Amino acid sequence: MSLLSRLRPATDDSIDSVDLAEVHSALGRVEDPELHLSLDEAGMLGDVEVERNGTVKVTVRLTTPACPLKDRLGSDITSEVSQVAGVERVEVTFAAMSEHERMNLAARLRGDRPTHGHAFGPDSRTKVYAVASGKGGVGKSTVTANLAIALAQQGKRVGILDADVWGYSIPHLFGVRRAPIAIKGLMLPVEAHGVALMSVGFFVTEEEPVVWRGPMLHKALEQFLSDVHWGELDVLLIDLPPGTGDITMSLLELVPDAALIAVTTPQPAAQTVAERVGRMARNLRMPVAGVIENMSALVCGSCHESTELFGSGGGERLSKAIDAPLLGQVPLDIELREGGDSGVPAMVSSPDSHSAQEFRRIAAELPVVRRSLVGRKLPLSVI
Ligand SMILES: Nc1ncnc2c1ncn2[C@@H]1O[C@H](COP(=O)(O)OP(=O)(O)OP(=O)(O)O)[C@@H](O)[C@H]1O
Ligand SMILES: [Mg+2]
Repeated sequence: MSLLSRLRPATDDSIDSVDLAEVHSALGRVEDPELHLSLDEAGMLGDVEVERNGTVKVTVRLTTPACPLKDRLGSDITSEVSQVAGVERVEVTFAAMSEHERMNLAARLRGDRPTHGHAFGPDSRTKVYAVASGKGGVGKSTVTANLAIALAQQGKRVGILDADVWGYSIPHLFGVRRAPIAIKGLMLPVEAHGVALMSVGFFVTEEEPVVWRGPMLHKALEQFLSDVHWGELDVLLIDLPPGTGDITMSLLELVPDAALIAVTTPQPAAQTVAERVGRMARNLRMPVAGVIENMSALVCGSCHESTELFGSGGGERLSKAIDAPLLGQVPLDIELREGGDSGVPAMVSSPDSHSAQEFRRIAAELPVVRRSLVGRKLPLSVI
């Protein structure tokens, strides 16, 4: 049923007061925030009634009755439709999709995607970056979160896959703790601060330790790549666990086209770390996008002085060791730490902070690197 045929005036008089075509185009501007489809395209739009007193009644069919985005959808519809001349009031009612409708939507979202495997292979338009470090606590997750928001603010569609299955921190950094919506085996990433997110943390409670072992972890990561409707991403950032252990290796084997972003502190001890990350990149023949030095000299806003709390030179040394550019130096910044603690990253809560400015610069200049074809099987064709 087309949208226009569902728009039925409750009385003939209403046609004079409210232009149905305008209600139509207003509703056409409302998207499901996680499907990135208009309500009509997603099959979520039910009846639309226009009454003579200027009340527009809209029924939305949700993918799941307990949809956490209900309120957001309601207010988006109300704000678009109430701009139409003659509309006095907008009433939004929610219903649930039938099983059949959910099946159709899932099939549509899967599209012509291969049943096995994921959408981030060599022909994908998505640039995948794996954010890694040789040791823990250097700020990988903080860098991943803020870099992702900086890229999104520059107009890119960005996703984060939190591959730190034991020590996940992406849900907390983005202030989200709810299970993703699933439609017939297809999960929708959770959207926050303009970034599509997927993390083990969405499926467990904070107190509950993740006790999964190797094969289960591998399976979970595989599912995060293939059973998640990432949509048309420009960039996917993968927040890796610390070090170069099994999960890191297994993830990088699943996405061989990922380019490495190595995070380090400025400390001289970064040398041993450099060797470990460099060895991993060489072994996996990963392209390396570059190095981000984090927790660099603490900048004092008013006195224009800086303190090298963690020493200096770590980023440069790592950059030389793995023969890749130093993409940026993110200073030690209280606002960056506070943003992470409060669930509103500094890119949103303190966009003028020194760290936010550096993330914006890194995002604007992030290089696109491709995996070398050396060592790959030649594509053979029969003439
Ligand atoms: N530039 C910075 N200035 C101030 N605090 C920072 C900075 N970068 C990170 N932090 C803080 O350091 C702590 C560790 O950061 P984060 O969790 O991002 O590190 P990580 O490398 O992902 O850790 P893990 O190895 O456990 O995954 C957090 O409390 C974070 O807020
Ligand atoms: Mg982390």
